[in-house]
Amino acid sequence: MTATKEFLETTALPMAVRPSVESDVPAMLAIYEHHVRHGQSELDAEFMAPDPLRDDDIKRRRKNMLRRRLPHLVAERGGAVVGYAYAVPFRKRPAYRYAVKHSIYVHPGHLHSGIGRALLPALIESCTQEGFRQMFAYIDASNMASRNLHEAFGFRLVGVLEGVGLKYGQWTDTVLMQRPLGPGASEPPAYSRTT
Ligand SMILES: CC(C)(COP(=O)(O)OP(=O)(O)OC[C@H]1O[C@@H](n2cnc3c(N)ncnc32)[C@H](O)[C@@H]1OP(=O)(O)O)[C@@H](O)C(=O)NCCC(=O)NCCS
Repeated sequence: MTATKEFLETTALPMAVRPSVESDVPAMLAIYEHHVRHGQSELDAEFMAPDPLRDDDIKRRRKNMLRRRLPHLVAERGGAVVGYAYAVPFRKRPAYRYAVKHSIYVHPGHLHSGIGRALLPALIESCTQEGFRQMFAYIDASNMASRNLHEAFGFRLVGVLEGVGLKYGQWTDTVLMQRPLGPGASEPPAYSRTT
């Protein structure tokens, strides 16, 4: 079977987005590691930790996030995890407790086949339901796939951090994209978050 035919057949399978469970962690780790090694995201193989991220680290982080009512979602296609997305606090200080930043990663064999389009709005919806009011993404300026995806879901460019990264000897820019959730900053919060 040709790679194109295989891609078309695989990406035609039904897809669903759901909250992650602990047994999804190895699949998420494999996706993450691929993008660290080959990707354009904020991650960087050049300075990969000598002791790379392990299942246990992701499991602990996932539990921490769930305890804080931060959404952690996976996309499944044909029974396999093909992407994931999660939110973390924008900053740790309590004044920022209604703002989140997020990450989204799609399986390398399923890129540009609608997974991001399914995961990102689901994450936006979950964050809105949890009462968060602003959502941010830090994106490598050259990562047009991510910039376009975010723009398609209401994120706008609010800043360019110039020369903040050094990748393979080149200074890189990062863009900051933001979208309000629910009423955003137009009303006080409906209920009080402690973290
Ligand atoms: C960025 C990423 C999450 C997009 O997810 P995806 O599932 O490939 O995207 P989708 O197929 O749902 O496409 C949604 C939109 O994103 C944009 N997009 C996706 N891939 C693109 C590409 N290669 N070039 C330009 N725009 C692209 C398009 O606007 C697309 O809409 P369209 O289908 O009408 O063209 C995915 O490319 C990825 O995981 N990249 C590596 C990790 C990463 O960079 N994460 C983001 C860190 S901020």
